[in-house]
Amino acid sequence: MLVDIIAGTRPNFVKIASILHAIEADNEAAKILEVRLVHTGQHYDERMSGDFFEQLRIKQPNINLGVGSGSQAEQTGKIMIGYEQVLLNDPSELCIVVGDVNSTMACAIVAKKFNIPVAHIEGGIRSCDSSMPEEINRIVTDSISDLFFTTSEYANKNLISEGVSTDKIFFVGNTMIDTLLNNIGNLKRPELLDQHSINRNKYFTLTLHRPNNVDDHNNLNEILQIICHCNIDVPVIFPVHPRTEKVLKKLHKIPSNLIITAPLPYLEFIWLVKNSIAVLTDSGGITEETTVLGVPCLTLRETTERPETVDIGTNELVGMDADLIRFNMEKILSGEGKRGSIPERWDGKTGERIIRILKNKVCPAK
Ligand code: UD1
Repeated sequence: MLVDIIAGTRPNFVKIASILHAIEADNEAAKILEVRLVHTGQHYDERMSGDFFEQLRIKQPNINLGVGSGSQAEQTGKIMIGYEQVLLNDPSELCIVVGDVNSTMACAIVAKKFNIPVAHIEGGIRSCDSSMPEEINRIVTDSISDLFFTTSEYANKNLISEGVSTDKIFFVGNTMIDTLLNNIGNLKRPELLDQHSINRNKYFTLTLHRPNNVDDHNNLNEILQIICHCNIDVPVIFPVHPRTEKVLKKLHKIPSNLIITAPLPYLEFIWLVKNSIAVLTDSGGITEETTVLGVPCLTLRETTERPETVDIGTNELVGMDADLIRFNMEKILSGEGKRGSIPERWDGKTGERIIRILKNKVCPAK
C-alpha cells in the first residue's frame, strides 16, 4: 500500500521521524506500507530542514516540491499545485499529514479531492484563536480528514463536538515526544555555551516566531526588553527563527544579556532546553517538550491549543503581560517553578500505535 507522508517544516520533521521509524521496524516482518516521503520545501534552509533529516535519521524525501517562502495563499497554492501533479502522475492510497502548518492543510485538500483517505496526526487541537493561520489549517484539515490520531482527551472532545464519529478518533499520544524520548541519550551540548562561558542551568532559553509577536519590530523589541530586563544578570539564549531574524536586524538596541544564535539542530536545541532554568516561547511543540523534560515553560501567548501542557505539565500562559512575566521568572529563579507530570500516552510508543491502527483500519486484508 503506497502511503504518502507529508512534511514541510521543522516541527513536521520531528513528528514524522517516529512514524517513519515505526514503519521501518514493522516492515522488517512483512512490507505492508510503502512510504513515499513528500517534502513540500516550506522550510528549506539546512538549519531548518537538512540538519533535522540527518540527526533524526529520516530517509531522504522521495519528492521535494521546493515551494519555499511566500504569502499564506501563495505558499498554500504552490504546495497544492505541486502535490496535485504528484498524485496525477502516481496516486497514493493514503495521505498522512501532521500538525497544523500550510503544508498540512494544502496536501490534505489535494489528497481528498483525489478521493484518497487522509490521516491527520495531531488532529483535534484548537486554540480557538482564528487570527492564527495554524488554527485555520487545523480546522480545515480536520473538516476533511478520515482518521484522526490525537494527543489528548481535549483533542478528542473537540473533534466529537464538531461531529466527528468516535470510530475515526484514535487517542494514541504524541509523536513529537516519541522523537524526544528516542533521542534523549544522544543530546549534544551546544558550543555557544562554552563560547559565552555559560554553565548548565544558569540561563533561560527563548524562542519566538509567531507573526503577531515578531513581524512588527516594535512588538519584538518590547518582548525582548521585558524578558531581558527582568533578570539582567541571567543570560537569555535566543536561537532565532529566520522569520524573526529579518525583523531583529531592524532593532537598534539589543539587551546585553540576550545571546543571539542561529537556529540550532535538534540534538543541540533539546540539550539547551533540558538544561535551562526555564524556557520562554511562543511555540506550541516546545511546551510539550518542556512538559516531558520537567522544565518550567512560560508561553508568550494568550491561548494554547495544548491545554494539557498547562493543566498537567510545566507550562504557564503569560501572554505579553510584563508583570506576569516578571513574577513568574522570579518565582522560577527562587526554585518555585511549576512542576508537572506527563500527559497520558506520551510514552514514546505513539508511532507504533499509529502503524498498528493504520494496518487494521486501512488495509485489514493485507
Ligand atoms: C511555520 C508554520 C508554523 C510553525 C513554524 C515552525 C505555517 C502557517 N506556519 O511558520 O505553524 O510553527 O513553521 O518553524 O505553516 N524561512 C527561511 N528559511 C527556512 C524557512 C523559512 O528563511 O528554511 C523564512 C521564510 O522566508 C519566511 C519566514 O521564514 O519569510 C517564515 O517561513 P514560513 O514557512 O512562512 O512560516 P514560519 O513562520 O516558519
